[in-house]
Amino acid sequence: MDRIGQQQQVKIALARVQIPAGIMIRAWSVEDFPAIQRLSDAEGWTSPSRRPADSLGAWRNSWPALVAQKDDVVVGFVRALTDGAITMYIADLLVDQHMRGAGIGRSLLETCHQLYPTTRLDLLAADGSRAFYEACGYRLLHDGMRKSYV
Ligand SMILES: CC(C)(COP(=O)(O)OP(=O)(O)OC[C@H]1O[C@@H](n2cnc3c(N)ncnc32)[C@H](O)[C@@H]1OP(=O)(O)O)[C@@H](O)C(=O)NCCC(=O)NCCS
Repeated sequence: MDRIGQQQQVKIALARVQIPAGIMIRAWSVEDFPAIQRLSDAEGWTSPSRRPADSLGAWRNSWPALVAQKDDVVVGFVRALTDGAITMYIADLLVDQHMRGAGIGRSLLETCHQLYPTTRLDLLAADGSRAFYEACGYRLLHDGMRKSYV
């Protein structure tokens, strides 16, 4: 799907999502990558800055891939992968440290789900984010596994 198609799809999904006042959610574009790097650096997530080509490739190959912005500044993002019907995997979700607790994380996730409402969403929760996911209706599944980059 091209970017115009993505924006159109997001617009339709957003009609069913409660968005915090002053926040806009839209499909990401390559111009957002420096902001994605900035937010990731601040969280100690090193891949976007240390492996920019790989990370940019990951963003280009992901969908839904959305940003939240306030006053023209990107304040959060979500990057996910889906088969469109059964499964969606949330790869990255991040909200600016100064903007947390305002409903942005929830609305980014909800927009992903409204884009593909028949999917179930799976993810590996980062340390400290479990209560957030539980507040958003997710349940804990044991035995998540990961093999890292070598
Ligand atoms: C996790 C994160 C994305 C949450 O984003 P956010 O915009 O602050 O979350 P929201 O404001 O949408 O919160 C939604 C709900 O979760 C709750 N919540 C959010 N963070 C919470 C926390 N740390 N502890 C307990 N509850 C929390 C909120 O109270 C809210 O509940 P309510 O609607 O019942 O009041 C954000 O804290 C973040 O970017 N953390 C660092 C990166 C990270 O851990 N990402 C997840 C990786 S898998």
